[in-house]
Amino acid sequence: MLQSMRINGGSPINGTIEISGSKNLALPALAAALLTDKDVTLHNVPNLEDVKSMLNLLFHLGVDMGSLENGTITLTSKDLKTFNAEYDFVRKMRASILVLGPLVSRFKKASVSLPGGCAIGARGVDLHIKALEHMGANITIENGYINASAPHGLIGCDINFPISTVTGTENIIMAASLAKGTTRIINAAMEPEITALAELLIGMGAKIKGHGTSIITIVGVEALSGTSFTILPDRIETGTYAIAAALTNGKLLLKNCKYDHLSSFFETLHLAGIANKVYRRVDCEHDDIEVWRERDIINPVNIQTAPFPGFATDLQAQFMTLMTICDGTSSITENIFENRFMHIPELSRMGANISVYGKTAIVTGQSYLKGTNVMATDLRASVSLVLAGLVARGETIVNRLYHIDRGYENIDCKLQMCGAKIERFTA
Ligand code: EPZ
Repeated sequence: MLQSMRINGGSPINGTIEISGSKNLALPALAAALLTDKDVTLHNVPNLEDVKSMLNLLFHLGVDMGSLENGTITLTSKDLKTFNAEYDFVRKMRASILVLGPLVSRFKKASVSLPGGCAIGARGVDLHIKALEHMGANITIENGYINASAPHGLIGCDINFPISTVTGTENIIMAASLAKGTTRIINAAMEPEITALAELLIGMGAKIKGHGTSIITIVGVEALSGTSFTILPDRIETGTYAIAAALTNGKLLLKNCKYDHLSSFFETLHLAGIANKVYRRVDCEHDDIEVWRERDIINPVNIQTAPFPGFATDLQAQFMTLMTICDGTSSITENIFENRFMHIPELSRMGANISVYGKTAIVTGQSYLKGTNVMATDLRASVSLVLAGLVARGETIVNRLYHIDRGYENIDCKLQMCGAKIERFTA
């Protein structure tokens, strides 16, 4: 049954929100379990639809796994039943492409459906394929499937990505961990999830250096061992709730996050007139961050999305919602995906004043938004509409909630606990 969210705007969002584990680290970390026949135990795994999709795919492949309980799950990839990731799995979640590298590297073969496009763009995987071919994999594309084989294993080499690709970098780091010889990834993505994935693999015995920089060197090993690893906090969830506090003139304490993964984002929020205070936790390497709006008005700020450490494309839609009620005009340029403005028509229906010129949106702040029926189209566009509903006058109904449940754990409960008048219902 299709679920929707009913939101009555106007309440300031005040209180404390516990940040969940990172979706975009949990997905490659689960795929990494394919690289060893030993137990891989992951902690702080978020209970999300995308995580369930990845677990379903791994189970289909033949990975032994316990159940995900309180964020912890153990996976063991002894003998797989199949090396095929069928279209039905991959179309639901593009990140399924992350099983390609581990399967080819350890099991010497894989057949993974091409993910196809999605709402925000073509989302090609050509760079993943070219890189694996460069490492010696024989790859054919037939009937929408990537058929890869490397009977003698992959061979380490230099991989030069023409553009920064997060899952492309992740696929090759995992593949190179069991390749023969040394692989250097040049123009590697530098997102915190890449760094954390490398730490996970190093804990399994992989030899990796330079993670977090644009040149990552991996020296292949014969086999990898098991490990136990904790997923880092979700920086995009953190940024999303920071904007909820900013929008509604509330004050939130975001628990268990990593300020360093969002420093440029919080600097941008500060320019908009949003303050933050960081409490470094002594018991672990995480932080608590307090966020509030300093004055009644929100300053317009121009942004351009960019690979880390630039402004994250996954926070672009949420930031645009903030700018719809700013005191002036802001320009927002989306440089990563070619169609990541699907939230604009829906925000406009709520009274936002946004004009699009190519990959730049010009947002002229209004004094208020009006609640109405809106349609979710992709994960981050959907949450930008929930944020808009929190501050809009009247009632907003956000339809097609499955988009949101892919990437936000218990969003309605977390917001309700902080004063939001929000409820989920079956449409
Ligand atoms: C990852 O997607 C994230 N997903 C995305 O988060 C995020 O928006 C994106 O990185 C950018 O930060 C996961 O980590 C699971 P890319 P990914 O490869 O790896 C083009 C969310 O909302 N490209 O860095 O798929 C691509 O089309 C999701 O949580 C090719 O052309 O993104 C895009 O324009 C959405 N060919 C650009 O590169 C390729 O082979 C960057 O994509 C690979 C990428």
